[in-house]
Amino acid sequence: MSGPEEAAKEICVLGLGYVGLPTAAMLAVSGFSVTGVDLRADVVDAVNAGDVPIEEVGLKTVVQAAVNSGNLRAQASPEEADAFIIAVPTPIREDHTADLSYVEQAARSIVPHLRKGNLVVLESTVPPGTTDGLLTDILAESGLVPKEELFIAHCPERILPGRILTELVQNDRVIGGIDEESARRAAEIYRPMVEGEVFPTTAVVAELAKLVENASRDVGIAFANEVARISRKHGADGREVIALANRHPRVHILDPGAGVGGHCIPVDPWFLVEGAPDLARVVRTARETNDAQPLWVAERTMRELDAVEDPKISVWGVAYKGNVDDARETPALAVLKALEAKGARVSAVDFHVKRFAYQIDDLEASVTDADCVLLLTDHREFCFFEPAAIGERMRTRIVFDTRSCLAHERWEAAGFKVVTL
Ligand SMILES: NC(=O)c1ccc[n+]([C@@H]2O[C@H](COP(=O)([O-])OP(=O)(O)OC[C@H]3O[C@@H](n4cnc5c(N)ncnc54)[C@H](O)[C@@H]3O)[C@@H](O)[C@H]2O)c1
Repeated sequence: MSGPEEAAKEICVLGLGYVGLPTAAMLAVSGFSVTGVDLRADVVDAVNAGDVPIEEVGLKTVVQAAVNSGNLRAQASPEEADAFIIAVPTPIREDHTADLSYVEQAARSIVPHLRKGNLVVLESTVPPGTTDGLLTDILAESGLVPKEELFIAHCPERILPGRILTELVQNDRVIGGIDEESARRAAEIYRPMVEGEVFPTTAVVAELAKLVENASRDVGIAFANEVARISRKHGADGREVIALANRHPRVHILDPGAGVGGHCIPVDPWFLVEGAPDLARVVRTARETNDAQPLWVAERTMRELDAVEDPKISVWGVAYKGNVDDARETPALAVLKALEAKGARVSAVDFHVKRFAYQIDDLEASVTDADCVLLLTDHREFCFFEPAAIGERMRTRIVFDTRSCLAHERWEAAGFKVVTL
């Protein structure tokens, strides 16, 4: 990695979450002078103290190095810089339309600080047309002329929580400018930090590429979930069907699960649907299939407990994926609600998630008198527990392993009925 080559030396990063904080820290250790901005005072304080408000491998070390070098500091509001990177949330509303209020607010907050020659990069995932539309319109309120005095690009983020620092460096980057010069200037920001290839393109292509990536994953998971349901109807194990189908050299079916969660895959495909409702039919169906999966898992769990009076279910894992602390849009929430609605008592266990709609219980309390362990998230810790010791505390020995990550023969040897997707 070489140091920054172009004029942009000072970067202001808006939003210090899963995307913004690692990006700010990596840019800082790549030689840029970075001001990180977040509305949350606890985030600002944590970063300035060299601490991190999220759980992510290696992040604390990089943030500490960045803060100690003097190249990273956090504050509550933006200030003048050569370039601005916006990495704020882009959730969906109840009606599945994009909520761009955070992007609007962040863009408006930098308008008073913009000066001639500035670059603004939007990293948040957005519906097609946002960068060259809404964002450019707001930034033009500065009086600077886009493409002449102000350069604007969309550089979508592709990192996977749990591997953020590695992927931030190694992944290829798509950089879409509202014109060629914007893309070129934005690429210069990322090159010192990124070992992957940097692909300049237009803003709308970059927006679409990001959305299509996640829609592709969503469609793939929906297919796997559908295979699991069809296989079940025929009395077959869906995972075995998929494993054997995948022995075909050109077939790569994904894993079924309890649904799809996180900030990206359950959200981003709706941005495609919103912009082209008559065309994005597979995309919409995949969303609906995956959104229905938690209910299917809850119903299957309750069928296993038909004969049990006042069943108690110990739910293992509420994070949307293994070994992360992120429970946003997690299917576990829908599973827990559906189980309760069907009359079960539920108790959730998770060693990573700290904030969640349900109380997080300790393992011992959760499995005591339980009738079923329902594993939803493949956190590594769950694989280390001794099935016999768990079984001794339970009332009924059933384990439903939706991720197929437990050693089933050990659970069976401990007297458990093992259920899989
Ligand atoms: N989390 C991921 O793995 C991931 C991966 C790829 C893309 N993305 C996309 O990146 C964007 C950010 O996601 P995230 O996971 O980092 O979100 P996040 O919720 O972890 O972090 C966003 C941060 O922005 C702050 N914020 C909100 N409005 C602000 C404003 N006006 N000024 C300054 N700070 C503000 C919030 O307080 C929060 O700390 C989203 O569009 C998301 O879809 C996320």
